[in-house]
Amino acid sequence: MSAEPCRVAVLISGSGTNLQSFIDHQQAGNADYVLSHVFSNRPDAYGLTRAQQAGIPADCIDHTTFADRTTFDQAVANCLDAHAPDLLILAGYMRILSEAFVDRFAGRILNIHPALLPLYPGLDTHERVLAAGDRFHGSTVHFVTAELDGGPRILQGRLEVGLTSDADELRHRVQSLEHVIYPRVADWFAQGRLAMRHGAAWLDDAELVEPVIEDF
Ligand code: GRF
Repeated sequence: MSAEPCRVAVLISGSGTNLQSFIDHQQAGNADYVLSHVFSNRPDAYGLTRAQQAGIPADCIDHTTFADRTTFDQAVANCLDAHAPDLLILAGYMRILSEAFVDRFAGRILNIHPALLPLYPGLDTHERVLAAGDRFHGSTVHFVTAELDGGPRILQGRLEVGLTSDADELRHRVQSLEHVIYPRVADWFAQGRLAMRHGAAWLDDAELVEPVIEDF
């Protein structure tokens, strides 16, 4: 591993509570990464204000001004590369990534999805978990591949749904655990302990056939 700290770019589209957890972790002096850039595809994303308050360079490119995904993703990739990121963190980034974008940053993109993948890829996970009457719910940090919410899983934060019957309350509970597990996985990557090899996640030289599970 190089002596330079791992440079992390965080991609957002909205409120950015996960971004805030990365900022807090770094400001507490506990991070092995350095937040070098924040990118938003939405000008009104509150996460941009969080970045500004933390003194992190931030950029916005509005996807609605582009004719197609390919040219938008090229512009985003060029904008990101100007800050030389080692790792991209998708944190509520509500854009599907083109294959060219994923290839360009292969093995260097993480996402957090609010479900115990492979259960519930896609949207409205909290509502779907409640409708199904599941006992467990949670969130999954995984490497990003061209398959939506389908890349190798790394760490899952799990909770018991219990008496929670309201989707917003469940979302809040899940987000609280996300704020613990996501910066931790970034630290693993920054420490050189975590990598994607041949389409699988590896932690401490062991293939993660199943993700690490942490109960909350
Ligand atoms: C998170 O719950 C994450 O699981 C999903 O989008 C949400 C982003 O929330 N991918 P925030 O913008 O970090 O508050």
